[in-house]
Amino acid sequence: MGSESTAWLPEGVSTLAPEVDAIFKFVNLVSVILFAGVVLAIIYFAYRYRRKHPNERPLPIKESKLLEAAWIVIPLILVLVTFTWGFRVYMRLNVAPPDSYVINVEGRQWSWLYKYPNGATSAELHVPADRPVRLRMISTDVIHSFFVPAFRIKQDVLPNRYSYVWFQATKPGTYDYFCTEYCGTQHSGMIGKITVHTPEDFQEWLQNAGIPADMPPAEAGKLIFQQQGCQACHAVEASGGPAIGPSLFGLFGKTEQLQDGSSVPVDENYLRESILEPQAKVVAGYPPIMPASYAALPEDQITALVEYIKTLQ
Ligand code: CUA
Repeated sequence: MGSESTAWLPEGVSTLAPEVDAIFKFVNLVSVILFAGVVLAIIYFAYRYRRKHPNERPLPIKESKLLEAAWIVIPLILVLVTFTWGFRVYMRLNVAPPDSYVINVEGRQWSWLYKYPNGATSAELHVPADRPVRLRMISTDVIHSFFVPAFRIKQDVLPNRYSYVWFQATKPGTYDYFCTEYCGTQHSGMIGKITVHTPEDFQEWLQNAGIPADMPPAEAGKLIFQQQGCQACHAVEASGGPAIGPSLFGLFGKTEQLQDGSSVPVDENYLRESILEPQAKVVAGYPPIMPASYAALPEDQITALVEYIKTLQ
């Protein structure tokens, strides 16, 4: 009983994956045996006790104490084994080692943002191998769910309350993660890759992950745009891309038609207002669904975003 890949799950690459797989296989095996037993018994009895003559009446049933005891005791043992075993693995999965490396995770419609202890942020998750990592997760809107099949972990991400999950990756590489709680239009787009680095590579990645102070604003803006997940709703190229929000390509300098029938010239202050207060001037034809949470971005990041949007021509 290992954690090799199966028809259901990819190869397990966390310390607890073999334990999760073992109990998963046990429950599956018991279920298959019981299912086969029940089906075979139905077929056999249907044949053995079929009515042979039109006037045949069934004989009274003689009870068997042994048989009755068996069908009470055996399932009881199976259920108790599953419970105690499952509970032990559940506790191991839920109690992170005290020396875990903590990464903050923010889920929102429809992207993820990761914040590291040194202040760096990223749109995809990067973790060191061979070290317990604990995710402290919060949602800024609806319920999302963080699922990493290769690590055998899944945890709901809630608004207004932290939820946690931890793992210790055993093998460097990239692994898929998914949002597994239907959270709206782009739910299926809330997927991504976790990069597991060797501990040395991780330190190096972390040093370069922040936005360098000397980066030109338009370039920094592109990074922030990706980190904030803006590309989930806004296209940045002439054709293609999502159409949930207005396309940002060629936006600067043109005149935007608003929902209330008026129009507004797209200048720097209009871009700024639309980031900080998205409902102030809603573009005609688009639902007012952009969250107001970007108002919390620091001033230099907002300026960088405005600069980046201006370059999309
Ligand atoms: Cu977030 Cu589904």
